[in-house]
Amino acid sequence: MIKAINHIAIVVPDFESALPFWQDALGLQLSHTEDVPSQAVEVAFFPMGDSEVELLRPTTPDSGVAKYLAKRGAGMHHIALEVDDIYAMLARLKEKGVRLINEQPVPAAGGKLAAFIHPEAANGVLVELYQVG
Ligand code: CO
Repeated sequence: MIKAINHIAIVVPDFESALPFWQDALGLQLSHTEDVPSQAVEVAFFPMGDSEVELLRPTTPDSGVAKYLAKRGAGMHHIALEVDDIYAMLARLKEKGVRLINEQPVPAAGGKLAAFIHPEAANGVLVELYQVG
């Protein structure tokens, strides 16, 4: 079951150039930054209500996120839907023939489990399933 929009992720070349808008102009509080080696990114979290904006910065030149940034520039990268059972949701999507990037969950920030649905299956949007509990 899908419970909420957990976060919206925005890819940026570096935090130095991106933080002033979110922190100073909008006045949001940066909760923390975190290295996510499994996805070759560093992440900065701006909580707001029950969801967050997550800035992603590639940490290697050849990762998926780095290639996305090189091709399309900074911008919205993905939307994360919070699920209570990521394995059940992946099984459901497979059964329905939905194209997945990750057939099995991968480690995400904060030791959470995540799996990405291919944008081709989701109206051009990269959708992340994100299990919090
Ligand atoms: Co995410």
